[in-house]
Amino acid sequence: MYTGKKVRLRAYRPADLDDVLRQVNDYMSVRHSALGPILPATPDDEMRWIGQQTSMTRGEYQFAIETLNGQYVGGCGFQHVDWKNRAAHIGILIGNAAMRGKGYGSDAIRVLCRIGFAEMNLHKISLTVIEGNEAAIRCYIACGFSMEGKLRDEIFREDAYHDLIAMGILRDEWRTRSEFQAPMQMESPAQGDDFDPVSSIVGLCPAAPNKGGTFCPRPTPAARTPLIK
Ligand SMILES: CC(C)(COP(=O)(O)OP(=O)(O)OC[C@H]1O[C@@H](n2cnc3c(N)ncnc32)[C@H](O)[C@@H]1OP(=O)(O)O)[C@@H](O)C(=O)NCCC(=O)NCCS
Repeated sequence: MYTGKKVRLRAYRPADLDDVLRQVNDYMSVRHSALGPILPATPDDEMRWIGQQTSMTRGEYQFAIETLNGQYVGGCGFQHVDWKNRAAHIGILIGNAAMRGKGYGSDAIRVLCRIGFAEMNLHKISLTVIEGNEAAIRCYIACGFSMEGKLRDEIFREDAYHDLIAMGILRDEWRTRSEFQAPMQMESPAQGDDFDPVSSIVGLCPAAPNKGGTFCPRPTPAARTPLIK
């Protein structure tokens, strides 16, 4: 239904059960994305979950991600849609590891942003990512997200606490990107041409900001178009 350059986002259907079950029961796939305890899911659990993904009334909406020739590659969606503040959190999982690093994830995030801003009329889309998840951080930066801060020791996983990196994109920032079709530039003049925003975020993870971490700069305010003049 919603198509990008490499993927299509569509509603889940019962025939996805085997793919979904395989994906959620693959620890190495979900260890980066699940924030709660990772426990085995049964076919009943997942069939019930699939059946719940067709209603906006729950305040969330999940899409299956498939390639343009119809191969299921994972899922993504809006979690915690806040209609009053026009904000939503998103999440994504390319469940088949062999399909990662091929541009499907970033294309799905771009399509999700288009749905969120151009269809749902959101003002802001946010997400959190566990420290050190470089693939995800690079993916979100490539899609125009900025780092907004970090939540220290927010998640317990594999016998240790980890920070969560908070990232977000505003509607005006997205509109600027789509208008000019330009890749997001995250560099700051003060940081020089070789500034790598991902390294700055990944490098920030172990240390608190007051220990020398560097936050990504937001796009300049001038790049944002006022909606009301
Ligand atoms: C994170 C995820 C959605 C990214 O999707 P993807 O299809 O693998 O990524 P893409 O191929 O679209 O690449 C996006 C960017 O990430 C980079 N990237 C991809 N895999 C990477 C890896 N293993 N290490 C470092 N960078 C990587 C790409 O180079 C690209 O950056 P660029 O645009 O600057 O070149 C996917 O890897 C995934 O589902 N991982 C497991 C679950 C997860 O981490 N979910 C996110 C939780 S917040």
